[in-house]
Amino acid sequence: MLCAYRTGMRAVRLHEIDRERGPQNFRVEQVDDPAPGPGETLVKIARAAFNRRDVFISQGLYPGIQLPCIPGSDGLGTVAAHGEGAQGPAVGTRVVIDPTLGWGPDQRIWLRTAQVIGMPHQGTFAEYIAVPSGNVHPAPASLTDDEAAAIPLAGVTAYRALVSRGGCTKDDVVLIPGVGSGVQTFVLLFAKKIGAKVIVTSSSDVKLERAKSMGADVAINYKTSEKWEKDVQAVDGGPSLVVDSAGGDTFFKAVNVTRYGGRVVVYGGTLGDAKLRPFSLFWKQLDIMGSSMGSPRDFAEMLAQFDGSIKPAVDKVYAMDEVVAAAEAVDKGAKFGKVLLAIT
Ligand SMILES: NC(=O)c1ccc[n+]([C@@H]2O[C@H](COP(=O)([O-])OP(=O)(O)OC[C@H]3O[C@@H](n4cnc5c(N)ncnc54)[C@H](OP(=O)(O)O)[C@@H]3O)[C@@H](O)[C@H]2O)c1
Repeated sequence: MLCAYRTGMRAVRLHEIDRERGPQNFRVEQVDDPAPGPGETLVKIARAAFNRRDVFISQGLYPGIQLPCIPGSDGLGTVAAHGEGAQGPAVGTRVVIDPTLGWGPDQRIWLRTAQVIGMPHQGTFAEYIAVPSGNVHPAPASLTDDEAAAIPLAGVTAYRALVSRGGCTKDDVVLIPGVGSGVQTFVLLFAKKIGAKVIVTSSSDVKLERAKSMGADVAINYKTSEKWEKDVQAVDGGPSLVVDSAGGDTFFKAVNVTRYGGRVVVYGGTLGDAKLRPFSLFWKQLDIMGSSMGSPRDFAEMLAQFDGSIKPAVDKVYAMDEVVAAAEAVDKGAKFGKVLLAIT
């Protein structure tokens, strides 16, 4: 259990939201330690990772915001204690946390009551967190603390979208728009591990080079290439599988370049709403699928991919006191891969 003399823990909190200044509202404060309830495990967090979700919350762009809150969905740490009846890994084990709470019994769809750690449930931007012990998994031995902390939310979202929903095989040509996204770097990792051919797009040549070093076969700059969708279609007649989180005009164009019989999986809408051309869908007999987070099975299968053959892309580790700079880097997209916070 926690030492008796402890007077609380350091945590990042949000007290207010603001469309423009949201990322500047993250504050490091002293708060009460959490105590593990029945069936829960207490984890001492060493590293946490940012997701766009945390920035969206600070900007008021997320449903059901409750303040104040401790954000953060990704955590790497060690098991500190177990609550009554909890059956998690032994105290001292290096672990990562599955960020989905209460997925439910059906692999195909989560319950409407399911939640993501980091608002309203306390998040990982804190020295300690108590979560259901079933959400606590030994961290992949092949990864450093930074690499393992980068995995949970982005990894499970990417794995479910690409594999469980998209059914990616080695024969696919996969289009990954906006590869600078934290989640899309994992889609690239998993697609190359499967052996698929991968086309990536990005606003930055530097990010495209990084993606190529991770195995991307074709890299296209959607800012400088006026008709990037034509360049995409020139690759083997277009993608057989698209995994998109940009939404907006990018989603519209991605659907239009997908080849006959292709699949399009969407898990985000960074650019907002998209229009669709029904002709593109019905004439080419396309399948369009939505995907969010991942089931406990998706999470376990995703973790098993990290068998020493692949490593996640980590952009930079910020000190906890630099949380505003970290949030602004995520907000501006000025990074490749995951932005981390060193908690302890
Ligand atoms: N449903 C879920 O369970 C779930 C889970 C995780 C994330 N999401 C959503 O997925 C989205 C991405 O999340 P994230 O954490 O990976 O965000 P992120 O790291 O902030 O990535 C955003 C990326 O979007 C790309 N982008 C911006 N404009 C674009 C355009 N015109 N065309 C193509 N790409 C463009 C940029 O890529 P470049 O820098 O390469 O240009 C940017 O880096 C967010 O909307 C998030 O809310 C949903």
